Amino acid sequence: MQLQDVSVLITGGGSGLGAATARAMAAKGAKVAVFDMNKDNAEKVAAEIGGVACVGDVSNEASVKEAIDKAEAAHGVVRVLVNCAGIGSAVKTVSKNGAHSLDLFAHVVKVNLIGTFNCIRLVAERMQSAPTIGEERGVFINTASVAAYDGQIGQAAYSASKGGIVGMTLPVARDLASMNIRVMTIAPGLFLTPLLMGLPEEARKSLGAQVPHPARLGDPSEYAALAVQIVENPMLNGETIRLDGAIRMAPR
Ligand SMILES: NC(=O)c1ccc[n+]([C@@H]2O[C@H](COP(=O)([O-])OP(=O)(O)OC[C@H]3O[C@@H](n4cnc5c(N)ncnc54)[C@H](O)[C@@H]3O)[C@@H](O)[C@H]2O)c1
Repeated sequence: MQLQDVSVLITGGGSGLGAATARAMAAKGAKVAVFDMNKDNAEKVAAEIGGVACVGDVSNEASVKEAIDKAEAAHGVVRVLVNCAGIGSAVKTVSKNGAHSLDLFAHVVKVNLIGTFNCIRLVAERMQSAPTIGEERGVFINTASVAAYDGQIGQAAYSASKGGIVGMTLPVARDLASMNIRVMTIAPGLFLTPLLMGLPEEARKSLGAQVPHPARLGDPSEYAALAVQIVENPMLNGETIRLDGAIRMAPR
């Protein structure tokens, strides 16, 4: 599917990988709705690219329906959904302070995994009755992490949430295939987003040096370039692509 004039919804679009994807898809002529729980950032990115801002929580049904309504009213039926909203956590299964908080575990899974599925199901519900564009009706792109495969110490909740995204990629692609909708997942390694920008220069360099080649942190524009290619290449479906410079994370 070509992005020119296509209605795109990007969750977590106010920051990092989502914001870079919003810029890249807008540069290809897409009409982008930036969905984020951070109102200021959603509005800033939307204003920069001439899109619309949707504020809310991906794990909340009413919030997502409201965002889809706003995107659809401004740009027409959403044809491309990029799920970038996500949160991290770093807590061991058990430590001197006791067992991992079950509320925290559930919260991470709720935002990252359930939030992703919530957006897919509600966008797909609208998309199914839209006419096809050529041989396609739409494309979904999810964001897992290399932590889905090589989760580090303290990443039980995060890895479980991302592993769930990898696991549902094929069955959701199979569910939606008869509607001419594709589903792909990107599993990024280490990317220079606000999370890592907060680290001192030395720490950033040392993280980057762990990447076999290129031995540096990924630039969000490189994630965005893959997201664009996934939309444009009709044979990509039902698979997770690691985007990580061949890094395999060590236990810590
Ligand atoms: N940066 C990396 O190195 C890296 C590596 C692997 C995976 N990822 C994944 O990529 C995605 C984007 O990460 P990033 O580095 O750009 O992070 P980021 O913090 O810069 O952006 C995430 C955005 O999601 C929004 N968000 C969080 N919870 C939300 C919710 N419930 N509803 C709506 N919006 C919500 C935040 O406000 C933020 O703007 C995440 O899913 C993250 O787990 C990032």
